[in-house]
Amino acid sequence: MRRYTVNECKVQFPSLSRNESLSRSAAAAFAMQCDPTVEEIAAIKTAVSEAVTNAIVHGYRDMNGVVELVMRLYSDNTVYIQIKDKGRGIPDIKQAMEPAYTTAPADEERSGLGFTVMESFMDKVRVRSAENRGTAVTMEKRLTGKRDDER
Ligand SMILES: Nc1ncnc2c1ncn2[C@@H]1O[C@H](COP(=O)(O)OP(=O)(O)O)[C@@H](O)[C@H]1O
Ligand SMILES: [Mg+2]
Repeated sequence: MRRYTVNECKVQFPSLSRNESLSRSAAAAFAMQCDPTVEEIAAIKTAVSEAVTNAIVHGYRDMNGVVELVMRLYSDNTVYIQIKDKGRGIPDIKQAMEPAYTTAPADEERSGLGFTVMESFMDKVRVRSAENRGTAVTMEKRLTGKRDDER
């Protein structure tokens, strides 16, 4: 049977660094409806905060903008998460996703491992981007617990 959307939530916020923790909490709260394990919650929070941090520090480097977080729960207990910005975009996505690649200045001490972390914690990570138009990072993770309407 084709999966369908059970629940969906959209959050929009300005590109302020304090919204990194807000987005982590929002994603954790959304995932709670599937009775997730501690590891699953930690994985989702980590992946979301890497992607949101990227939108804020890279996408909107030297500018302000809006970050959108879309969270969806599918009927097969997959959590879908999309983080979108309308910032600078990524000229070469393949290169950007390589471990230890970073365009941040040395004094910011970024590891270049954000995408690697997202890929290790989530089942799927897809990046779409256009220069000066913005970036969308879409991630999915299938959870092992039961939804509250299944229990
Ligand atoms: N939302 C984004 N907008 C523009 N560039 C991005 C975005 N996300 C990632 N990048 C680019 O991809 C690179 C790698 O990202 P990442 O793996 O998270 O490492 P880091 O954030 O430590 O640089 C960044 O240095 C940046 O050049
Ligand atoms: Mg990063």
